[in-house]
Amino acid sequence: KEARFVDDLLKKMTLEEKIGQMSQIALNTDDAGKAEDMVKAGQVGSFLFVTDPARINALQHVAVDQSRLHIPILFGFDVIHGFRTVYPVPLAMAASFKPELATLAQRHAAMEASAAGVRWTFAPMVDIAHDARWGRIMEGAGEDPYLGARMAEAQVRGFQGSSLSNADSIVACVKHYAGYGAADGGRDYDSSNISDADLENIYLPPFHAAEKAGAGTFMTAYMDLNGVPAAGNRWLMRDVLKERWGFKGFIVSDWDAVHALQTHGMAKDAADAAAISANAGMDMEMTGHVFRDNLPAQVKSGAVKMATIDEAVKRILSVKYELGLFEHPYADVAAAPGKFVNAEQRAAARKAGAEVAVLLRNEGNLLPLKKAPGTIAVIGPLADSKVDIGGSWSLASHPADNVSVLEGLKQRFAATPDVVKYAKGVEIERTGHSIFDPQFPPVPVTMHTDAEKKAAFDEAIATVKSADVTIMVLGESQNMNGEKASRLSLDLPGKQEELLEAAVATGKPVVLVLMNGRPLSIDWAAQHVPAILEAWYPGTEGGNAVADLLFGDAVPGGKLPATFPRSASQEPLFYAHYLRQNPHETAALYWDGSSAPLYPFGYGLSYAKFSMNNLKMSSAKVAADGTMQVSIDVKNDSNVAGDEVVQLYTHQRAGSASRPVRELKGFKRVSLKAGETQTVTLALDSHELGFWSSATRKFAVEPGTFDLWVGNSSASTENHATFEVTK
Ligand code: IFM
Repeated sequence: KEARFVDDLLKKMTLEEKIGQMSQIALNTDDAGKAEDMVKAGQVGSFLFVTDPARINALQHVAVDQSRLHIPILFGFDVIHGFRTVYPVPLAMAASFKPELATLAQRHAAMEASAAGVRWTFAPMVDIAHDARWGRIMEGAGEDPYLGARMAEAQVRGFQGSSLSNADSIVACVKHYAGYGAADGGRDYDSSNISDADLENIYLPPFHAAEKAGAGTFMTAYMDLNGVPAAGNRWLMRDVLKERWGFKGFIVSDWDAVHALQTHGMAKDAADAAAISANAGMDMEMTGHVFRDNLPAQVKSGAVKMATIDEAVKRILSVKYELGLFEHPYADVAAAPGKFVNAEQRAAARKAGAEVAVLLRNEGNLLPLKKAPGTIAVIGPLADSKVDIGGSWSLASHPADNVSVLEGLKQRFAATPDVVKYAKGVEIERTGHSIFDPQFPPVPVTMHTDAEKKAAFDEAIATVKSADVTIMVLGESQNMNGEKASRLSLDLPGKQEELLEAAVATGKPVVLVLMNGRPLSIDWAAQHVPAILEAWYPGTEGGNAVADLLFGDAVPGGKLPATFPRSASQEPLFYAHYLRQNPHETAALYWDGSSAPLYPFGYGLSYAKFSMNNLKMSSAKVAADGTMQVSIDVKNDSNVAGDEVVQLYTHQRAGSASRPVRELKGFKRVSLKAGETQTVTLALDSHELGFWSSATRKFAVEPGTFDLWVGNSSASTENHATFEVTK
């Protein structure tokens, strides 16, 4: 039925109308004043960045009522970690090691976005990143392809729901295809040079998982991959995505990226750029007029075949059809406000905010704090920020809805307001401009002169001295992460560490709550601050979630989805590195410092204490097309309930090409009551053990001996076994 509908429509379309479907317009560009006329003329397939339901409906009415063929518009937006209600940033979601939490959060995000008439999100971002300097590491699942794949498919399921045609489903857009996270030096937009093997084994699997989960669209990356810009990369778009994987949806470029084929030096002019990109498999251009202005002539000259255009348009119309847009093109404007930031959304966001936190240190069980802790000093530039707690890419949110950490604590002690004493201490400023400054200005600077800065610093330390316990909320402002937000240093920015050291020097107990979107080099804090809670950017209910965690109403159970370095100069740093000539001589890697991570991938503590033993495999041999069951007993040895993440890693001892020291191949987060023991079983499918070999230049599950570890981080060694993969 769908194919017939789309074919019939296609037959009625002029070339210009077809190319109109292939064009996405942003209302903050030159086209802003011409939107209605362009829609009427059939020149627009999609808009991005329109989020007001009334405006969406008005534009949709022009398309449906006044354009010749009445084709509805697809409205797209970056619904990355929430729409009006903000959920923890994607890196934080990955720290939950709970894909079902990501599904739930993106389901809630889809409910809000679709209520506004936004039926397309530019998410999930599934780029693997080994370098924490890259600002966009915050938008993905971190360094590991297995975890990344699970989070990718989970998010697709959340956005798209049980069927795209449900009114509250939005179509996912898997980005940035592919290799964006490997930007040289962690510099955003720089080239990615990735070996074929790493591309196949590390960078592509999360994309493939999202595609298999039914993602309706893909977005190409900005940068060039091994010399070929992604927006003109036929191998990526046609050979792999459309042919090898059989992807049925459509591909959109990133912002202006078709035009940029010229600046990359791949296209000689805009006409050439349009032809290269369309021929390589691009179906829709995001902003820019390169398709619209050039494809008609390129088709007439034969540089682009009509069949290529038809294929792209069919893909786009099919997605619109599947979304039910031809039958139900409008948002329910009256119902929308009731769906935004309602009690259900807030409760889910609060729970998620707590589930993503990672406890990095807890000397002397300082956490959880006593329910009646005496007086609490709340210190730091991020403690009372309603903007930063939402994190970058929360563009449709209203920061006024967000609960800061200070507010969360004040609400908790509302009956005894004198308990909480606040001082900002130092300023935190990103130099240069974030691309989203207009919507989200950085934390306002309140200290200008040296005297003002000194007074604020001294006031904070005096507040620490006067209180029984101190909670310091430090990290990165939200605009220090995301697009165009790479860093040279991974230290706490500005004077925050100085403030932290002075607070610790008072001898008072200090809890450090980190708010950041990438691994930080907090080497000093890791040795001197008794309790460190990584809260990431926890979202709208973040302040309440952090308060729940600090006082034991929630128990941290997250694990690091990316390695924390001791210093930025160790980057790129990740656990699954290849074997070396002298694998155990880690000291030789740098003569002037350690090459070991500060905190490894998968690491995280709890208020509970867990042990794991009794590792069992269903058999010590598994066929190359078989599955084995791996089980372990997890015991909660404490009197507090909590969550532990059972992680399964493998290493192939010998094969046609060398393999990483270990790789994550399974995980499960489980909740255990005080004293409880659970047997956790993970299925290990041999297919997961296969790899694309640089030697044979193909994917295979190669028979041989494997090491297997089950533990609570990538550094766990206690529960080890070996098994054979047979032919
Ligand atoms: O979705 C984003 C992408 O991640 C970066 N460039 C702009 C797009 C639309 O906002």
